[in-house]
Amino acid sequence: MSNVIILGAQWGDEGKGKIVDLFCGRFEFVARYQGGHNAGHTVQIGDKKFILKLIPSGILHPGKRAVIGNGLVVDPAALLNEMQSLTAVGVNVAAQLSISNRAHVLFPFHRTMEHMLDAIGTTSRGIGPCYEDKAGRRGIRMADLLDRERFGAQFDALAADKGIVARAFGVADELDLERIRAEYEGFAEQIRPMVCDTARLLNEAIRAGKSVMFEGAQGTMLDLDHGTFPFVTSSSASAGGACTGTGVAPTRIHAIVGVAKAYTTRVGGGPFPTEALDAMGDQIRQRGHEFGSVTGRPRRCGWFDIPQVRYAAMLNGLDSLVITKLDVLDQLEKIPVCTTYRSGRHEVTDMPATAAGLEALEPVYECLPGWRTSTQGVSRYEELPLQARDYLAYLENRTGVEVGCISTGPERNQTIVRRESRFGKLFT
Ligand code: IMP
Repeated sequence: MSNVIILGAQWGDEGKGKIVDLFCGRFEFVARYQGGHNAGHTVQIGDKKFILKLIPSGILHPGKRAVIGNGLVVDPAALLNEMQSLTAVGVNVAAQLSISNRAHVLFPFHRTMEHMLDAIGTTSRGIGPCYEDKAGRRGIRMADLLDRERFGAQFDALAADKGIVARAFGVADELDLERIRAEYEGFAEQIRPMVCDTARLLNEAIRAGKSVMFEGAQGTMLDLDHGTFPFVTSSSASAGGACTGTGVAPTRIHAIVGVAKAYTTRVGGGPFPTEALDAMGDQIRQRGHEFGSVTGRPRRCGWFDIPQVRYAAMLNGLDSLVITKLDVLDQLEKIPVCTTYRSGRHEVTDMPATAAGLEALEPVYECLPGWRTSTQGVSRYEELPLQARDYLAYLENRTGVEVGCISTGPERNQTIVRRESRFGKLFT
């Protein structure tokens, strides 16, 4: 029995959805611990593609219990939409899904606030303003939503607050607060059977010998505290968030796995030292289909950044790395990898605390030979071309974390697991 966190080691979109989907068969529970429907986890099964935003990818496995932890902000309309599309393909959502009674509820006015105030290129889902209300102790939680009387009073107070801001910005007409309240009272009835104390649910399951996979959303460099602030999301996307966002103690976690692409991408504003603003960047974007699964925005593309991933490994205490989308690099003659940063003539080994500080640094590259042959679908490590194995060994040595698994395509079977690794021992 092992409880494992799987999280993004870069700026999100690392391909966690596929990895969680692939290995969640070994766990009885899959729990999300932060974020909301800003995340987009893509899982490809045969010719069917599922994009899950709020519900953990584990739900696609019959009998698995999927948990939306207390650390999330939940837009009930988005949740019900997702539930309907899963039900339509035969998933028994009502039996498999549990939602924390302490998760915060996201309202349409959170989106309105975000439209007025966004300065960093968010996903425009209202995630930040909802977390602001949580931190400001004004937010409404699932347990409040289900208590009609309490909800009425809390909604009026919160709505009055938002009304003042909306009027100041001249957008008050966009907010039909009575309609929103009635709509949410309706949502409450649909969600009610699934809402419970998920901290108790998970802890009792663990005590009974069951295992939990904690599914991170976004990535370490988007973590509110440790990421490239202020160009970050509003939740704890790094490993610590799994505990605060579910109510499961650190002593119950046995391993932490980071997922990173063989290159790097980022969506939205903010520093990105290894961004390739040339034709190579475009080539990666096209070959890797690097367009946001939630917003459709083109992702910024660049090279693997060793200091960044090493930093993520430190913050999360990574036991193993999964390298995804190796095949996207198949055609390249040379592959630049950032080995360190430089400021003038000085090498910088720390991650600067400010976005401006990171932007001012110059990445130093080493160019590794490409393999110029297809690795798509390769499922045995020995069958990778020598240069691809050298590339992976280089990432492993320089980041200080084993590469335990490699993804060579979107399908479940397009995956290499290195059986002798810590990852292999956990998952095979
Ligand atoms: P928010 O999470 O919508 O507040 O957006 C804050 C920042 O995080 C923006 O730069 C978004 O592009 C980024 N972001 C949020 N969710 C994801 C994700 O799932 N993948 C990649 N970037 C994300």
